[in-house]
Amino acid sequence: MVDEPVRPLQDQFAHRFGDPPAHYEPTTGNETLAYLAGRSSHRRYSARPVDAALIETLSAAALCAPTKSDLQQRDIVSVQDPSLRNKINGLFPESSWIAKAPAFLIFCGNNRRQRQIHQWRGRPFVNDHLDAFFNAAVDAAIVLATFVVAVERAGLGCCPISAVRNHAEQISGLLGLPDHVFPVAGLTLGWPEGESEVSPRLPLAVTLHTDRFSEQGLRDHMDAYDARRAALQPISKQRFAGEEGYADVTPYTWSEDKARQYSKPERVDFGAFIRSKGFTLD
Ligand SMILES: Cc1cc2nc3c(=O)[nH]c(=O)nc-3n(C[C@H](O)[C@H](O)[C@H](O)COP(=O)(O)O)c2cc1C
Repeated sequence: MVDEPVRPLQDQFAHRFGDPPAHYEPTTGNETLAYLAGRSSHRRYSARPVDAALIETLSAAALCAPTKSDLQQRDIVSVQDPSLRNKINGLFPESSWIAKAPAFLIFCGNNRRQRQIHQWRGRPFVNDHLDAFFNAAVDAAIVLATFVVAVERAGLGCCPISAVRNHAEQISGLLGLPDHVFPVAGLTLGWPEGESEVSPRLPLAVTLHTDRFSEQGLRDHMDAYDARRAALQPISKQRFAGEEGYADVTPYTWSEDKARQYSKPERVDFGAFIRSKGFTLD
């Protein structure tokens, strides 16, 4: 096997963003930056199982992530029982690759422990509003992102699965999630099979602001991104192809795909589910 040539960091960022950041060579940490610049999600895995001890180690690393006010309002559920896994797989018939992943985890927000602590310490919990939900959701997302980094650095591959929220009620029932504990995302995990593509990101001109939020030149930047993305990573299947109002278009761009995605209702019952878990969201 011939080793891939290592691409300089600036080349990697140029591929990712089109407009690379100003050239700056940190004295340490280049390896981490180069990994981040070249990382990607993996949806194809070899049959090699992922040892439960490795999952525990990766989870431990992820749970070292920063957490709001040291409150630690997030948990990971590692799905080990084959019959439970089968039931979860059955929720995603349209994504058969999920069932083929050797391992599956679910990242949850957990505002329950905080409320339990209040009971045990005899102090009222007087912050029963949107922020209680938001803090736990953000903490879970940070652990998810850190888990992804730990996984990819260890040579495995993974893909977060927000589609678990399409079935929040069922997932919650299957995992026995009590009040104030809710699924944020699942994650498929395994040893990668084949390469996965580095996905171009919106240019820094659009997503990195200095001092003041700016949308200067946004439409032009978006058009250029659509063109660059279509050239580098064309979307092979047009969303809702063949359905009324979704005639095939050329070029089929990232922004067309995203506009199609949210032109149909998705997870409209999620707010009701979260309220059913005891959150007020006011
Ligand atoms: C919170 C979250 C939820 C996601 N949910 C799904 C999902 O349900 N199905 C899927 O195929 N990919 C999912 N992804 C993966 C994204 O599609 C992927 O990160 C994005 O296309 C960018 O590709 P990259 O990670 O390779 O850079 C999710 C990613 C995140 C961060």
